[in-house]
Amino acid sequence: MALSLLTIAEELRRLQAEGVDRVFVDNQTFSSLNQRESEAAKVKTKHAVAAHDGAEHSDLRALVEASSASVSPAQSATKDTTSTKSPALLPESPPEIILPDGDAQSRLEYLEERVLGCPVCQAHLSPHGKIVFGAGHPSADIFFCGEAPGTEEELTGEPFAGEAGHLLSKIITAMGLDRKEVYTANILNWRPQHDKPYGNRPPTVQEMRFCLPYLEAQIDIVQPKVIVALGNAAVTGLLGPDPSRKLAAVRGTWSQFKQRPLMISFHPAYLLRNGTMKTKRMLWEDMLKVMEKCDLPITDRQRGYFLPKA
Ligand code: URA
Repeated sequence: MALSLLTIAEELRRLQAEGVDRVFVDNQTFSSLNQRESEAAKVKTKHAVAAHDGAEHSDLRALVEASSASVSPAQSATKDTTSTKSPALLPESPPEIILPDGDAQSRLEYLEERVLGCPVCQAHLSPHGKIVFGAGHPSADIFFCGEAPGTEEELTGEPFAGEAGHLLSKIITAMGLDRKEVYTANILNWRPQHDKPYGNRPPTVQEMRFCLPYLEAQIDIVQPKVIVALGNAAVTGLLGPDPSRKLAAVRGTWSQFKQRPLMISFHPAYLLRNGTMKTKRMLWEDMLKVMEKCDLPITDRQRGYFLPKA
């Protein structure tokens, strides 16, 4: 028992080292952990298990509680969490989209109307939630792709409207740009519902597959020079699930999505919780690569952001 709990703790530490800062723990898992813990407690009393075992348990409890208390849209594990409560069924086939002719703005307007009217998206909303479509310049060079709307986003109907969004805005400003000059969107158009009164859960693979055509259509319209995948869910949603892919290994590297360069980086929410000079610099180096790819001017000052002072 203690061994399996330690294995969980080890896996959580491994994920954290990789750039995953939160994991979603559903109620079923919690009750099973509680049950196991009370079973373990009984065994412990019976056999007078050595005191340090108890310390291991509470370490894990702290770890699991800490991660569950802060679940939010970010690079949490995007394994296929089919057991996660989902309020509505997903159809077998994703939506088929035929875009009208016209300029980027009018095509985006058509698509937005289509997404806002999507019965599947509507069925997944919480009572006061809004569907969140992408926002920004219709012909932006840089297309930032996040995970899913969070609390603020489902209330406002705007992507990246909360704390992580404010940090993303700061990053964009540091690049010498404005939010209006780039495009921001998410893998998922609705905030994934769950059975907890707080936090967010990462989208399931099925949810991401359903919404992908909506995201692809936005990319087809905007035709960005570069797509930036922010965090694990964005990577999984764009490139497909791959259990052997580790964010730590692919972060800062170029991939391709729809024949467009795709830069993989941290989700800003990760920096909100792990914002050391090192992680800030890592994300910033990814942005420098994006700027270079887009032929944006880069000053010496910008090149030096988050480097240790000499
Ligand atoms: N996190 C995301 O991934 N997307 C948002 O829109 C907001 C937070």
